Amino acid sequence: MEQTAKIAVLVSGGGTNLQALIDAQSQGVLKSGKIALVISNHRDAYALTRAENAGIRTETVTKSELGSQEAFEDRIMQLLDGEGIDLIVLAGFMSILSERFTRHYEKRIINVHPSLIPSFCGQGFYGLRVHEAALARGVKVTGATVHYVNEVPDGGEIIMQKAVNVRPDDTPETLQKRVMRLAEWKILPMSAEKVCADMVVNKQTHK
Ligand code: GAR
Repeated sequence: MEQTAKIAVLVSGGGTNLQALIDAQSQGVLKSGKIALVISNHRDAYALTRAENAGIRTETVTKSELGSQEAFEDRIMQLLDGEGIDLIVLAGFMSILSERFTRHYEKRIINVHPSLIPSFCGQGFYGLRVHEAALARGVKVTGATVHYVNEVPDGGEIIMQKAVNVRPDDTPETLQKRVMRLAEWKILPMSAEKVCADMVVNKQTHK
């Protein structure tokens, strides 16, 4: 059997991007990597149910229960390294990771962000807030970006972007849904496949 990269997906909420990755895997779009672990930082995240339905191992790690950012990240690292994870996908993961964490996994973490970086990104820009800011600024085109994660929030190298037109009658909610459907759910699985394929070719996977 051809070698594949082991993927962990970090989530916080609904998990529609996780679902897109699961679907891409079952459709053969994501074939160079396999989702081996889903970690949530919220116990009630619906993303956990999506993972369970797909037979994927789930873990919950919360900062409030562990007491500090350091302990929170140590536990996540322990889970990732224990499972031999090659690629970490942040799919709606609403917690900023420290430089210590991002350096440990250099070029091994990717994130999906719901705007065309460098617009509407960085600290404070997440979820619906991104779309509220785009509408407030009056942009006519927005979209989504998948990028590597480094110590600068939303500052790592860009892997893929896709533009989406803003409609005059858009609300933050309608815009968010369209950006997800037309951009995020497409470029996240494509990017994961690209990065995993590169890892396999360059023999950067654990096994
Ligand atoms: C997505 O729109 C994702 O791009 C965004 O949160 C949403 C999560 O939805 N992420 C960020 O804003 C990160 N800065 P999901 O849980 O349904 O995938």
